Amino acid sequence: MDHGEEVGRVPSYTYFLDDETLDVQREAYGEFIAENGLGAGRAFKSLEVMTNDIKAMAKSLFNAPDDAGVSFTSGGTESVFMAVKTARDLARHKRGEPPERYNIVACVTAHPCLNKAGELLGVDIIRTPHTKEFRADPSLMRSAINDKTIMLFASAPNYPFGTFDPIAEIGKLAQHSGLRLHVDGCWGGFLSPFTERLGYPVPPWDFRVLGVSSLSADIHKFGYAAKGASLVLYRSADDQDHEAFSFSGWPRGTYSTPTFLGTRAGGAIASAWAVMHYLGMEGYLRAARLTMEATTRLIAGLNSIPDIECLAPYGESNLISFVSLDSALDIYAVADRLEERGWLRGRMREPQAIQQGVNPAHLATVEEYLSAVREAIEFVRRNASAPVAYDEHSY
Ligand SMILES: Cc1ncc(COP(=O)(O)O)c(C=O)c1O
Repeated sequence: MDHGEEVGRVPSYTYFLDDETLDVQREAYGEFIAENGLGAGRAFKSLEVMTNDIKAMAKSLFNAPDDAGVSFTSGGTESVFMAVKTARDLARHKRGEPPERYNIVACVTAHPCLNKAGELLGVDIIRTPHTKEFRADPSLMRSAINDKTIMLFASAPNYPFGTFDPIAEIGKLAQHSGLRLHVDGCWGGFLSPFTERLGYPVPPWDFRVLGVSSLSADIHKFGYAAKGASLVLYRSADDQDHEAFSFSGWPRGTYSTPTFLGTRAGGAIASAWAVMHYLGMEGYLRAARLTMEATTRLIAGLNSIPDIECLAPYGESNLISFVSLDSALDIYAVADRLEERGWLRGRMREPQAIQQGVNPAHLATVEEYLSAVREAIEFVRRNASAPVAYDEHSY
């Protein structure tokens, strides 16, 4: 099986456009495999030049002001971690250390890396229920704000359902309440700017929304870079003073890093830079077109199968989840059967659903997958057994 075929059978984890783009990734990574982003400014000037170029491209892509700050990180988790650390340290700077922990208000659909950041940084995360359309509810978020709240957090889109939170409204709430707003565009950051240009109904989500203070976007997802590449942007570059870490209490002198990592893979920077230049606007538009074509065909095909139904994402993104409409049809049993046949499936707990992201590699497997789903449903109906429990290890 070649890489594209393999990717067509997994629900996420890897993002594939074509062999040529994979070669660009691989070659650039290989060229800089021994270089270290930690020494970008001093020892490895090419890495510094590439990083600055990536930052400039990102500012333009996400409509950030010219004087916005950008940091290159190792992935979505590190980008979100940095946004939380920055919000916490800014709050400490302005308000002083609180007697109780600060908190961040998000919708229940926010990615778990937000809680990871909260746990490590001593910040509580308050999650509010989603609406019937699987979006954050700004009025519930408003009610959850208290005097320890430092930031609102919104997804563009969220990973479970692929829907966008109402960021324009949440931006107004942030401005009105004097709070920061982080937009998690880790999944969609390198897809939405292009689907918007193609005419898909992408709600406002980037720095054009005035209340947005920071934004994360992963180049190693739909930017098609090698793993280890993401960005976090700040409307105000001054915020980055609170993102950085610096320590002088050891013999070697001052050690400073802009973000969490010390050593950073030079290959990840080089691969991101090379792929972004190789694809350019035209390449990313092509990738977005293929991705959305696969998504649309998969949704239409799944919805034409009796007794199952897709929940979202209303043309906004490339995440699909489908539920069983018949209480006698166990959707996890369908997932089990699909996995027996070599289709690794994501499982959602609430509601019980099969969930997956879509990328251009899925286009080649649409029909094969739809027949596999039909077969799996027939199989489950013929071999009805005890309900299948949610598999805690199926993420
Ligand atoms: C919306 C969202 N945020 C954050 C992340 C975390 O990204 P990473 O796995 O690169 O740390 C993901 C990963 O899928 C995501 O979908």
